[in-house]
Amino acid sequence: LIANEISSRLLDWYGVHHRILPWRLSPSDQLAGKKPDPYAVWLSEIMLQQTTVEAVKSYYYTFIQRWPNIRAMAAASEDEILRAWAGLGYYSRARNLKKAADAIMAKHGGRFPETAAALKTLPGIGDYTSAAIAAIAFGEPIAVVDGNIERVIARLYAIATPLPAAKAEIRQRMGALTPEQRPGDFAQAMMDLGAMICTPRRPACSLCPLNRDCAALAGHDPELFPVKAPK
Ligand code: ADE
Repeated sequence: LIANEISSRLLDWYGVHHRILPWRLSPSDQLAGKKPDPYAVWLSEIMLQQTTVEAVKSYYYTFIQRWPNIRAMAAASEDEILRAWAGLGYYSRARNLKKAADAIMAKHGGRFPETAAALKTLPGIGDYTSAAIAAIAFGEPIAVVDGNIERVIARLYAIATPLPAAKAEIRQRMGALTPEQRPGDFAQAMMDLGAMICTPRRPACSLCPLNRDCAALAGHDPELFPVKAPK
């Protein structure tokens, strides 16, 4: 199938089955044409690196209430931020929050840069986070690839190359699927599909909106993908 049909089918599924998460716009806000707040997207994506959605939720509420925007976070001390972060782990993430907030105030007039390339110059913002913020908050049609999306793409195309060598092909495939309209919803739909349907073990293929398109399912064992490198 052409990319456009795959992305339309996935976006239709997302409209019905998306997870309700505190950093996402409510359906009514989305209908009203509101745009996601880049600060909220950034904060949530940093927290979600290496940490599960369930573990992140309470920290996200604490942070967004205490420091509701980039100016407030820049005004906080690193120590305050580290104390609020206690328990989430990978503390360089918290130190980089403060550094990035300071850099956005000092070099970008307090506004988030709007492209993945410019976002990537900020502390703690790498390939994944820059693409996620650019797609979700600014509508840039760029390939967003996290662990869930790697698994979905490896299955959809039955990619025989093991990870990590397969990463380049996965990124290229994700880029080819990513629509010009709603690239952020598309990326988050892939994440939700990976979390709820295309799970590492016993994926629920009968419920998958892409089951007709899935090369791994056609070969009868999606769990074989992504292929593991021999040890
Ligand atoms: N994991 C990382 N970012 C996410 C997002 N925006 N939605 C759901 N899960 C995620």
